[in-house]
Amino acid sequence: MTILVTGGAGFIGSNFVLDWLAQGDEPVVNLDALTYAGNLRNLASLQGDARHVFVHGDICDRALVDQLLAQHRPRAVVHFAAESHVDRSIHGPGAFVRTNVEGTFTLLEAARAHWGALQGEEKSAFRFLHVSTDEVYGSLAPDAPAFTEEHPYEPNSPYSASKAASDHLVRAWHHTYGLPVLTTNCSNNYGPFHFPEKLIPLLIVNALAGKPLPVYGDGRQIRDWLYVRDHCSGIRAVLAGGRVGQTYNIGGWNEQANIDIVQKVCALLDELRPDAAGPYARLVTHVADRPGHDRRYAIDARKLERELGWRPAETFDSGIRKTVQWYLDHPDWVAEVQSGAYREWLSTNYAAR
Ligand code: NAD
Ligand code: TYD
Repeated sequence: MTILVTGGAGFIGSNFVLDWLAQGDEPVVNLDALTYAGNLRNLASLQGDARHVFVHGDICDRALVDQLLAQHRPRAVVHFAAESHVDRSIHGPGAFVRTNVEGTFTLLEAARAHWGALQGEEKSAFRFLHVSTDEVYGSLAPDAPAFTEEHPYEPNSPYSASKAASDHLVRAWHHTYGLPVLTTNCSNNYGPFHFPEKLIPLLIVNALAGKPLPVYGDGRQIRDWLYVRDHCSGIRAVLAGGRVGQTYNIGGWNEQANIDIVQKVCALLDELRPDAAGPYARLVTHVADRPGHDRRYAIDARKLERELGWRPAETFDSGIRKTVQWYLDHPDWVAEVQSGAYREWLSTNYAAR
């Protein structure tokens, strides 16, 4: 048996592949285009491991996807590949429509053709697991209940709109063609291998370099934060026992305002890597807000707990401590991802703020 993972060189995908192969011996075929967000260094510990087959390619390439399905006959597709950063989607939405919508469509069509030709147990066991986000549900009022799986889709950014479109395609491929799909909608992840364009790794990397810590607007926007390996265990639970055609929210029961996240990261760095120049919080800088910035996300993950017994293993305190320590322990990884392209992005996103 084998699984096909897409986007397995990115932040969550690489954590998933590493955890998957640490838990068992079922091989992984990993299809990744290695965009700016894909990094084979995340998978360096798998070098020479025959259970991991890396394929450098695009999910929009139907012939390639067909070939991989025919050659490896995976029992499941676990689909992470996406353009994933809201700020980039504001500057250049086209790539989001291409990968998130057209790419998911291509995978669904290839999976449908493959699954349609399977027989017996191989056919009934096949799954297409689509990894999505809580951002498809839109923004919550301060006192509104957390998102359940029944919450209407109200995406507000080009990123969330493209993910919402992909979720709808997945739903329709089940409803119309019977493709055995599962969808997960998760809150904000953090942890090792997180590219430092997103809030938490950006704070750590900037603080260590003595650079400003940019807080959009008043910093009172709220997100639910989940340690990435808990997301991976949630996906494994859904893949193993989720009901076909269902969606499952995955979240950390951990709502926090951005400014509180900033203060916590600064306090941890003060403890673990004190700076002679003074507390890291001196670097906090309020900058112009993100256009259309969603004010609050919160996830109700009770369905996943009720049906499959999943709960996050980490608290925010334990997960953020591990995360900060990981960045302190991996200066080479950090240095390598701060390429010319990364510096260009910083200038695109922050210079005019
Ligand atoms: P990421 O940006 O770190 O990684 C995306 C990966 O997909 C990269 O390795 C990239 O090279 C690859 N990729 C991009 N376009 C591709 C294409 N056309 N063909 C093949 N590969 C391609 O993203 P992430 O944070 O790891 O997110 C993974 C998935 O989880 C995404 O679908 C995202 O929407 C979802 N998600 C992310 C979060 C989060 O907090 N990061 C939360 C909930 C859901
Ligand atoms: P981000 O990590 O980009 O994830 P998302 O937009 O998918 O939630 O941002 C998390 C929150 O942090 C979001 O409310 C935007 C805010 N933010 C900042 O305040 N400053 C920054 O430099 C970045 C990148 C994000």
